[in-house]
Amino acid sequence: MFRHLLISLASLYAFSNAQSLIQDPGVAGPPLELVHLYYDEWPTGIAVSSTGRMFSNYPPGFDTNNTNNGNNGKYTVAELVSNTTERAYPSVEINNPPGGAINYSTYPATGANYQNYLIGVQSVVIDPLDRLWILDTGRALTPNGTLVPSSYGGPKVVGVSLDNNTVFKTIAFPPTVAYPDSYLNDIRFDLRPSVTASGQGIAYITDSSSEGRNGIIIVDLGTGESWRHLDSAMAVRAQNQFVAYVWGVPLYFIPGPGQPVSFIPVGSDGIAISADGADLYWGAVGSRYLYSVPTARLRDRGLTSEVLAQQAVVQRGQKGVSDGFETDSNGLVYVGNIEQNAISLYNPANGTTETFVRDPRINWIDTMSVSTDGYLYFTTNQLFLTSGFYPGTDRRVRPFALFRAKLPNGGSKVLLR
Ligand SMILES: *[C@@H]1O[C@H](CO)[C@@H](O)[C@H](O)[C@H]1NC(C)=O
Ligand SMILES: *[C@@H]1O[C@H](CO)[C@@H](O)[C@H](O)[C@H]1NC(C)=O
Ligand SMILES: *[C@@H]1O[C@H](CO)[C@@H](O)[C@H](O)[C@H]1NC(C)=O
Ligand SMILES: *[C@@H]1O[C@H](CO)[C@@H](O)[C@H](O)[C@H]1NC(C)=O
Ligand SMILES: *[C@@H]1O[C@H](CO)[C@@H](O)[C@H](O)[C@H]1NC(C)=O
Ligand SMILES: *[C@@H]1O[C@H](CO)[C@@H](O)[C@H](O)[C@H]1NC(C)=O
Repeated sequence: MFRHLLISLASLYAFSNAQSLIQDPGVAGPPLELVHLYYDEWPTGIAVSSTGRMFSNYPPGFDTNNTNNGNNGKYTVAELVSNTTERAYPSVEINNPPGGAINYSTYPATGANYQNYLIGVQSVVIDPLDRLWILDTGRALTPNGTLVPSSYGGPKVVGVSLDNNTVFKTIAFPPTVAYPDSYLNDIRFDLRPSVTASGQGIAYITDSSSEGRNGIIIVDLGTGESWRHLDSAMAVRAQNQFVAYVWGVPLYFIPGPGQPVSFIPVGSDGIAISADGADLYWGAVGSRYLYSVPTARLRDRGLTSEVLAQQAVVQRGQKGVSDGFETDSNGLVYVGNIEQNAISLYNPANGTTETFVRDPRINWIDTMSVSTDGYLYFTTNQLFLTSGFYPGTDRRVRPFALFRAKLPNGGSKVLLR
């Protein structure tokens, strides 16, 4: 009996040393710097200018409290004015459509049709000429959490000069390009005169719609013409029965109030252009695959251009679960690896991904932005804790964060101009 007790004491002692077991290091890569804390509206995008000005956007398509219900004071785009505060940009007026972002005189309710006001901005990006472009989905959530379809005038890109904080161009997308249930998600630019007849550059946009047809939208910034490619192709859609795991939690989607849970339906979302402008990369949120297509196939509008575009898609292997993407001047493609609290990078030259940075403070990496200062900026916004995911309660804890990390080997912003 006594002898038995001694043995169990010995094994207990051995067990108390269990903390010496090897464990997940949790941290990798360059040091993370905290740049900004968001205490007010819920952010997605980040754009950093060559002079260090920073801009974010706050979509009302994922957070009912971001919806402008005619209440002056909401903003869907802001400039970061201190490390904890933000101010409506480019003006209070453009962020406050008369009567609000939603038109309740239609049934069902629809996004307001104003071309001169911002309705629901999902992305802000600074182009190679240091101009800010605002990507408006034209959609917003009603107070009960229903995402309304857009009306013509809502879905658009708006160019703002950072010299005088004035809108210099607005291009609205016709309903044949931005369907009422499209969700314009993110945008990248190639301003080289050679890529279009107009000579004023081109932009590529992902349609991440949870309800409808996914695809890539292309817009000639000179003529304002826009068109789609890869419409409903498998490579732009979420995979069947897709479940992501963040901070140990499996994620199921809640499409709307009172609706049954579904698998993650979000399609082509992250987008990035190769350093030489020859390839466009993207991925769906509901997929772990990375894809690319030669940009020439997207610019082509000939009779068989859609067939050729679908045939030219390259599947580049699994990179993890991502939202936004970025590229740098060394040709590397940065992708969120949300399930690993990490950002990975894909090197097209050797076809592999590796971990760039990892930290337990990283949660949902929404948007990345490489600046001319040689840093990768990214927002973490706890998207997986919003009421859009099971169990449908808002579990986010403010503040949301903006981080940055130094790029490897002198990498910097891709400047196709
Ligand atoms: C913001 O600035 C204040 C004052 O310079 C500083 O004490 C604080 O640490 C900064 N916070 C962040 C998130 O950078
Ligand atoms: C919206 O704001 C109200 C009031 O601050 C708060 O009670 C509610 O939880 C918020 N809802 C979301 C989805 O953030
Ligand atoms: C609201 O919808 C009505 C009916 O289609 C339309 O006449 C009006 O212009 C719309 N207003 C806005 C702000 O979208
Ligand atoms: C949510 O609100 C919209 C717009 O007011 C309304 O048409 C719809 O019936 C509501 N849905 C639910 C499930 O309450
Ligand atoms: C603002 O600056 C841009 C150049 O960045 C110029 O094209 C435009 O005319 C200016 N607008 C106003 C209102 O001054
Ligand atoms: C691929 O390239 C990256 C970036 O240059 C490098 O760090 C990595 O070791 C390479 N991977 C392989 C398997 O060669």
